[in-house]
Amino acid sequence: MEKIAVNLPADKYQILIGSGLLTGLGGHLLELGLCDKAVVITNPVVRHHYGKIIEESLDAAGFKTIILEVPDGEEQKSLQQAGQLYECLSEIEAERKTPVLALGGGVIGDLAGFVAATYMRGVPLVQLPTSLLAQVDSSVGGKVAVNHGKLKNNIGVFYQPRLVTADISTLKTLPAAESENGLAEVIKYGIIRDPELFKLIELNIGKIKSADEKLLEDMVSRCVSIKVGVVEQDEKDLGLRNILNFGHTVGHALEAVSDFRIPHGQAVAIGMLAAGRISWTVGLLNEVDVSRIKSIIKKPGLPVTIPGLDVGRIMQAMEHDKKKVGGKLRFVLLRAIGEALISDEVSAEVVEKVLKDLL
Ligand SMILES: NC(=O)c1ccc[n+]([C@@H]2O[C@H](COP(=O)([O-])OP(=O)(O)OC[C@H]3O[C@@H](n4cnc5c(N)ncnc54)[C@H](O)[C@@H]3O)[C@@H](O)[C@H]2O)c1
Ligand SMILES: [Zn+2]
Repeated sequence: MEKIAVNLPADKYQILIGSGLLTGLGGHLLELGLCDKAVVITNPVVRHHYGKIIEESLDAAGFKTIILEVPDGEEQKSLQQAGQLYECLSEIEAERKTPVLALGGGVIGDLAGFVAATYMRGVPLVQLPTSLLAQVDSSVGGKVAVNHGKLKNNIGVFYQPRLVTADISTLKTLPAAESENGLAEVIKYGIIRDPELFKLIELNIGKIKSADEKLLEDMVSRCVSIKVGVVEQDEKDLGLRNILNFGHTVGHALEAVSDFRIPHGQAVAIGMLAAGRISWTVGLLNEVDVSRIKSIIKKPGLPVTIPGLDVGRIMQAMEHDKKKVGGKLRFVLLRAIGEALISDEVSAEVVEKVLKDLL
C-alpha cells in the first residue's frame, strides 16, 4: 500500500492506494475518530460489486451502515439529486459528525462530496474512488460540484475529504471504455510532469490493460503524487493548477461540439496531441516528442484525429471558454515531455491550422 500525505493550510489527510483496501475501511475510519453511523452514497453498479465488502468492513468496526443509492449516470450530478440526498440524510438523522462515504466514480465523488460539503455546513467526507479517473483525478484535490442547466460543475465548492482510499482491485470490474477514459488522464500526468511515468505507460500497456495490480498501484500513486503536489501549491486553482488542464482546452470544445458523444478521455487525447502540435508549431517542443505523444495516445486505442467535426465550431466553442480566463485563449503547452507551461499567447491562427491537420 502507498500512503500519500496531503498537506494544505487548513486540511491534512492521507490518500491510501493499494489492493484490497476496502476490506480494512472500518478500521481506518475508527483511526480517524469517526464512529456510530456511516452513510455510503453509491450507485447500483458499484454497490453490486463492492457494497457487501464495505458493509462487512463497517459492521465489523461497529458502525451502523446506511447505504444510499442514486441511479448511475452524469445526469445525477444535479441540485435535484443533492436535494433528495439531503432529505435522506435528514430522515436517518445524520449528524454533523456522521461521515459520508462516496463509493464510485467521479460522478458519485462529486455529488456525494457536494452533499457532504453542504449538509449541515459540512460533514466528514471519505472518498472511495472506484474508477481509474476517480482514483487519479476527481477524488484528489477537493473540488466537488454538481451540474446546473448546461453548465458542468458550475455549482460547487472546495471541500477536502478526511481520507481517500483508492482500492486498486476495484479497477478489475471497470468497463474497458472507462479504463481508457482514465488512462487519458494518466497519460496527461506523464506528459506534463513525469517522464518516468510516460515511459512506464509506453512499455507496459499490456499490463495496464490486464489490470496488473502492482503496476496499477505504481501508476495511480505517481498520478496522485503529481496532483497532490500541484494542489498543495495552488489549492484554489488560481495559477499552477491550470497545468492539469493540459489537453482540455481543445478537449472541452470537442466534447461540446459533439454534444458529448465524444467521451471525455477521447476528447482529451485529441486535445493533448493538439497541444503538443501547437507547442511544436510555436517552436517550444521538438518533433520527436510530438511523435512520442501521438504514439502513446494510440497505444491504448485512444484517438489521434478529430472525427468529422467542423473546425469553425470547435474554434467557436473555445471562444466560449476564453471568456472564463479574461478574454484570452489559455493553453497548457510543453517544452519537453515532463515540462509544461501555461500560455495566453497562442494565436487563433495557429490553433486553427493544427486542428485542420488533425481532421
Ligand atoms: N472533482 C474533480 O476534480 C473532477 C475531476 C475530473 C472529473 N470529474 C468528474 O468526474 C466525472 C467522471 O467520472 P468517471 O469517469 O469516474 O465517471 P462515472 O462516475 O460515471 O463512472 C463511469 C462508469 O463506471 C462505473 N463504475 C465506476 N467504478 C466501477 C467499478 N469499479 N466497476 C464497474 N463499474 C464501475 C460507473 O457506475 C459508471 O457507469 C464527471 O462528472 C467529471 O465532471 C471531477
Ligand atoms: Zn479531464
